[in-house]
Amino acid sequence: MPIASTGSSQAQPRPTTRVLGIETSCDETAAAVIARAPVGSGQILANVVRAQWDEHRSYGGVVPEIAARAHVECLDAIIAEAMRTAGLSFAELDAVAVTAGPGLIGGLLVGAMTAKAIAAVHRLPIIAVNHLEAHALTVGLTEGLAPPYLLLLVSGGHTQLLIVHDVGRYQRLGSTIDDALGEAFDKTAKLLGLGFPGGVAVERAAAAGRAGRFRLPRPMLGRLELNFSFAGLKTAVRQQARACVPLKEKDVADLCAEFQAAVADSLVDRVQRAMALAAKSLAPNPERRLVVAGGVAANAALRQALAKAARRAGFRLHVPPPALCTDNAAMVAWAGAERLARGFSDGLDFEVRARWPLDPRAAPALGAGKQGAKA
Ligand code: KG4
Ligand code: ZN
Repeated sequence: MPIASTGSSQAQPRPTTRVLGIETSCDETAAAVIARAPVGSGQILANVVRAQWDEHRSYGGVVPEIAARAHVECLDAIIAEAMRTAGLSFAELDAVAVTAGPGLIGGLLVGAMTAKAIAAVHRLPIIAVNHLEAHALTVGLTEGLAPPYLLLLVSGGHTQLLIVHDVGRYQRLGSTIDDALGEAFDKTAKLLGLGFPGGVAVERAAAAGRAGRFRLPRPMLGRLELNFSFAGLKTAVRQQARACVPLKEKDVADLCAEFQAAVADSLVDRVQRAMALAAKSLAPNPERRLVVAGGVAANAALRQALAKAARRAGFRLHVPPPALCTDNAAMVAWAGAERLARGFSDGLDFEVRARWPLDPRAAPALGAGKQGAKA
């Protein structure tokens, strides 16, 4: 990625920057405008998200071609709405930021072409944002939290532990060797007949259920390497569900509660180990911080379990509000503003990328499936 560096000798105060963000990497069409003050604090001026659930529901998952077409149909209107809400014209923007990967190529192209057109016409800098970096930096926008911190990134396509040393500088400690956690939630919802999108449905059903009636495995507990695995857990849910057919509402609720408890135990075990390992690298910060980001971080039960584990280890937990955990463009605009503030921007010829690891030095986790290999 072409990078332009700013000279560090100019001591002129920099003005507040206003950045339009565009997100089309999966099944949410989103546009947002944020303002970043020179001290590094952020403010959301507009945040518009349109989920494509109705388009994909009957297929039980996201269909890439349908997603791309739906982005084409509504992106211009979503951007216009964001600009109207922010009360700005394109000429008043300082930059355009767009998710350039990882994700579904068709959707990424729709966002990138639109962002390039706006940047070209209004002569604005453009920033090609890594979607995972956008999740990773959201706490800067919501809480003013700056790196370094330990990050658990849990979304529909990724499950990773990373040390965020700085903007653009990530060290992967571990990742899933098969399914991503969001994927496991979605598949569990599907096989229990809870529909799409799955994560919220499982959380809602679990709230009415009791963990412990069914027995599910706790994947990777006690393992030295910091990886995750959720494929076996999903298969165990299927076996338990089959043994209980026809499933009553109470059975589904109890299975969901046990699934969530198993996930919580596995995450807590992995994160505890990561906190012990990362403590030294995070020493420059007076307070050690654990950040959880990505769609699954919207889950209240998991947040609670992780908050407790963090406290026990002398860490503080930081999680964006649920609406900024799931995909949105405010996080993309913010990541763009953070990069711009450090002198990074891209040429209009940048290419979108289906895969784009945050830590390019980390080898794919052994045994990683299609989703896991994305990271
Ligand atoms: O970050 P995200 O919106 O999109 C990706 O970048 O993948 O994450 C979406 C994932 C989906 O798998 C969805 O089921 C899951 O996050 N999710 C949840 C919850 N809300 C969304 N999983 C568990 N509990 C939730 N409340
Ligand atoms: Zn995401």
